[in-house]
Amino acid sequence: MKEKIRILALGDIIGSSGRTVFQKHIQNLKETYNVDFVVVNGENSSHGRGITTKIARFFKQHGVDAITSGNHIWANKEVFKFMDEEQYVLRPANYPGGCPGSGYALVEKDGVRIAVVNVQGRVFMRDTIDCPFRTLESLLVFLKTKTNIIFVDFHAEATSEKLGLAYYLDGQISALVGTHTHVQTADERILEGGTAYITDLGMAGSFDSMIGMKKGPIIDRFITQMPRKFEVSESSPFILTGACIEVDVESGKATSIERVFVKDEG
Ligand SMILES: [Fe+2]
Ligand SMILES: [Fe+2]
Repeated sequence: MKEKIRILALGDIIGSSGRTVFQKHIQNLKETYNVDFVVVNGENSSHGRGITTKIARFFKQHGVDAITSGNHIWANKEVFKFMDEEQYVLRPANYPGGCPGSGYALVEKDGVRIAVVNVQGRVFMRDTIDCPFRTLESLLVFLKTKTNIIFVDFHAEATSEKLGLAYYLDGQISALVGTHTHVQTADERILEGGTAYITDLGMAGSFDSMIGMKKGPIIDRFITQMPRKFEVSESSPFILTGACIEVDVESGKATSIERVFVKDEG
């Protein structure tokens, strides 16, 4: 059995622009970073909102082991049945019980089992969901009986909430990575107790955009305060960003975290 495993985590994949840049570079990234497990956030992968069964299968075909999500997961009802059947498409664990899908997945490869967990923040977010701290804390009691290697995607807006949860669980989880802002942060580190951390993984999609969407309608909405339809930007260049985390299999503690940033001129 391996002594260490490496997890590649990619931020929110935005529409066809994000899927294309992902497809073009994923194989190369896996080889470059010597990756064992791949986790992507798929909440914006279908036209910028939600995910479909077909897109979930596309990610799986390209070697993705688990797809995390967030507040946009409910945009396509079609995928709900699939989420109940296939555990690799996650929704945040702190939505009320009874929602489709699961908040965690156990993935096994070459004799190593990891838990991938998805939770969502409450600060500057609309949904009045359960406490991410308490939800994760009680979920860990169960997950710890299954594996030492626990990877968490915390889908949240506020930096403080993300750092707070990481510090709260430092040493109990292998990694906590943030998603949702679509902007990669430069604060990757390993906390004292051995938990790898980055405030946000960023995204895959059009770089010359506003968080992957066309700029015009968003700027217009700021100025007029009227609703506008947001569309995925398809203009080049494109980026694909995230982090690669190495974890000691025996202890479940992180040994390194490295930012991943690919720019594709298209
Ligand atoms: Fe997103
Ligand atoms: Fe989000």
